[in-house]
Amino acid sequence: MRTPLVVGNWKMHGTLAEARPLATAIRDGTKRVKGVDVAVCPPFTALAAVGEIVRESSVRLGAQDCHAEPSGAHTGEVSLPMLLELGCAFVIVGHSERRREIGESDAVINGKVHAVLAQGLTPILCVGETGEERRQGLTFTTVEGQLRAGLAGVTPDAITRIVLAYEPVWAIGTGVNATPGQASEVHGYLRGLVSELASKEAAQVIRILYGGSVKPENTGELMAAPDIDGALVGGASLNAQGFLQIVRKAAHAGARGD
Ligand code: PGA
Repeated sequence: MRTPLVVGNWKMHGTLAEARPLATAIRDGTKRVKGVDVAVCPPFTALAAVGEIVRESSVRLGAQDCHAEPSGAHTGEVSLPMLLELGCAFVIVGHSERRREIGESDAVINGKVHAVLAQGLTPILCVGETGEERRQGLTFTTVEGQLRAGLAGVTPDAITRIVLAYEPVWAIGTGVNATPGQASEVHGYLRGLVSELASKEAAQVIRILYGGSVKPENTGELMAAPDIDGALVGGASLNAQGFLQIVRKAAHAGARGD
């Protein structure tokens, strides 16, 4: 049984004035919710403040990106030792916005996956096809290429410590989520690849999140789909009440053993 995981990706939202009350409401609202893991990924500038707020609660802290090197002449970058010091447990790696806007390659992403694992943190490795790739029938080819490249050289043991996120690019921030059927066929495919790359056991253990226009209204049906073990939530994670509804629905679906 995989415990569902719900991660809020705040993206470039959250001044300290906004981040503090949001984190406080999420911390307080998850106190009585059992059977689900919850993490928030604020921007770098709010990590310390949010880390203070969620410390000694069940809400984990995550970063939205990192540099693969522990230190050095990399202006504007943030290293894993810096993130560790702030109490981060997760790091999102290879988000499609970074692939597209910053031009992050699969090789760079693979370097980050190795670095995150080496520091004992959990990478949330994102894969997903564009709308054009889906129209051309390239969905599986695309996610397979991203997964194989992202996990290149990662040992089978270490693969069990990774979280995967299937995030179809056409569903991110559009209000149009993948249907449970569309998502679960890709999740099943990814799990099959993990079985090949690592082991059957790893494929059973690894959590594969869905991301792309997750909101309270579609969480129940998405989480009920086979192989969907949680959600990476962007826009809807900025509203504490909405995010908490998503968390509760994910816990409920997990408790049913779906
Ligand atoms: P969204 O973003 O929920 O706003 O679609 C998801 C993501 O990019 O992680």
